Amino acid sequence: MKILVTYYSVTGNTRKIAEAIYETSSEDHEVHLKDMNDISLKNFANYDLVFLGSACHDSDLAHPVLQLFEKTPSSSEFKLAGFVTHASYTPDKGEYEKSMYDKWAGRCIKSFESFAHNNKIKFLGFFNCMGIPSPPIEKFIHDQIVTEEEQWAIYSEVIKKHPDENDIENAKKFAKKIQKMCE
Ligand SMILES: Cc1cc2nc3c(=O)[nH]c(=O)nc-3n(C[C@H](O)[C@H](O)[C@H](O)COP(=O)(O)O)c2cc1C
Repeated sequence: MKILVTYYSVTGNTRKIAEAIYETSSEDHEVHLKDMNDISLKNFANYDLVFLGSACHDSDLAHPVLQLFEKTPSSSEFKLAGFVTHASYTPDKGEYEKSMYDKWAGRCIKSFESFAHNNKIKFLGFFNCMGIPSPPIEKFIHDQIVTEEEQWAIYSEVIKKHPDENDIENAKKFAKKIQKMCE
């Protein structure tokens, strides 16, 4: 299989996940790893499977990714899998964490799904994990989202570790699972 792993990453978190997917995929397939700034949608037609990653911005995929989605793909033969890093908690931890995720990162998967649906592309799955934000975004989160000091103490300890080894392992497992779906 020919696989493209491409990503939009400002501070490197999403790139780390992309590199993990690239590394594990390279064991069995021909894989190219590319910064999204260096490719266009028409390149996707050269691949059987595209892993497309984005940092979460303004509770959705980053603007350059959404802009890419607005262009009509020249071919929809490739299959798509998405991955995102975000500064929100992951939704699997509890009610508070889920509501933060839903509000501040929940649109990401929906944007992948509607892009795939509108272009008749097979969307195979979605991976997401936390990623440490830059200092201005961290300040915004403290001022606007995690305002309660007790919650902030917990959150700031948790977020600074991500993406961690576990995230990397989970991203690799995700990549393997997606590849199996294509076999
Ligand atoms: C402009 C901007 C907006 C962001 N908005 C959100 C957001 O709405 N929700 C969220 O969970 N994280 C948000 N983040 C945090 C990033 O998604 C997170 O830190 C991510 O891991 C950054 O990935 P990168 O290092 O690949 O750029 C934002 C970051 C930036 C720079």
